[in-house]
Formats: sequence, structure tokens, C-alpha cells
Amino acid sequence: MVKNSFSMTLTARSANEGFARATVSAFATQLDPTLEEISDIKTAVSEAVTNSIVHAYKNSIGKIYISAELIEPNSIRIKIRDKGCGIENVEKAMEPLYTTVGGERAGLGFAVMQSFMDDLKVRSVLGKGTTVTMVKKISQRYKTNG
Ligand SMILES: Nc1ncnc2c1ncn2[C@@H]1O[C@H](COP(=O)(O)OP(=O)(O)OP(=O)(O)O)[C@@H](O)[C@H]1O
Ligand SMILES: [Mg+2]
Repeated sequence: MVKNSFSMTLTARSANEGFARATVSAFATQLDPTLEEISDIKTAVSEAVTNSIVHAYKNSIGKIYISAELIEPNSIRIKIRDKGCGIENVEKAMEPLYTTVGGERAGLGFAVMQSFMDDLKVRSVLGKGTTVTMVKKISQRYKTNG
């Protein structure tokens, strides 16, 4: 069951990367996360949004569609979608150190998302775009009635 949600559309400019990161993490504070959990979410969102900016829309400025839902048990599901170039081989792209921009990038974005989040799914269609769906479970430190 989805308890709460939001969605937004951003222009794929690097100036908006920090805004996306801050917005998603502010929304996640409803789950009473630790500083470390918030930091994990910020890092993962930042990696996914950066990928849409630098890879999906290489020579153009498109849109990035971000949504988040609070789901049971005390988790946040975040979707970051672009309508950019798409990924030819998702499995390969997700391997640590794999990058199509060698010398410039480390190829660690997906590995970072995978290690900081509890679930990561990447769907991509060449020429159509990419959707990254991530789930982070937030520890329940206090028992509440909510
Ligand atoms: N949204 C996207 N659209 C198109 N291609 C993508 C997208 N996200 C990732 N890719 C492809 O997957 C590869 C691996 O992505 P990953 O984030 O792991 O590494 P990177 O972006 O190359 O390097 P780093 O994230 O360490 O700076 C990229 O080099 C790129 O080819
Ligand atoms: Mg990356």
C-alpha cells in the first residue's frame, strides 16, 4: 500500500541535481531515517540523476521524471526516469567499473546505488529511455502509533 507520494519533472541540467537530491531526501524524512540512511538516499539519487544528465541526454537537454512513494514496511521507493538514449546492455552497464566514458568517469554509479539501497531495478529501451527504481528500507528506531 502506498501511504504517501510525490512526483516532479525537472530539466536535465546539472544545476538541478542538488535540488533533486534535496527534495527526495526531504520527502524521506517522514520515515524518521538516520543521518546515514538520508545520506545513502542522497548519494543514490545523485548518481541516477547524474546518469540521466550526462548519459541519457548527451547532446540535448531533456526532462527527468522523479517520483517517490512511501511503502510498507517503512520504506521509500524512488523512480528516476528519462526519455534519453537508453542503455544497450543493462546487465553489462551495471557491472562495477563499466563505463562508456572511460577516462572521465569511474563506472561506479550503479554499484553505488546497489550498495546504498536495498533494491535496484533498471529498465531501459534503446532510443526510448531508462527507468531506475530503487527501494530503501528505513530502520524503525522508535515505536509509534502511526
Ligand atoms: N540514464 C542512462 N541513460 C543512458 N545510459 C546510461 C544511463 N545510466 C547509465 N548509463 C550507461 O551505463 C554506464 C554505467 O553507468 P554508471 O553510473 O555505473 O557509471 P558511469 O556513469 O559511467 O561512471 P560514474 O557513475 O562512476 O561517474 C554509463 O557509462 C552509461 O553508458
Ligand atoms: Mg554514473
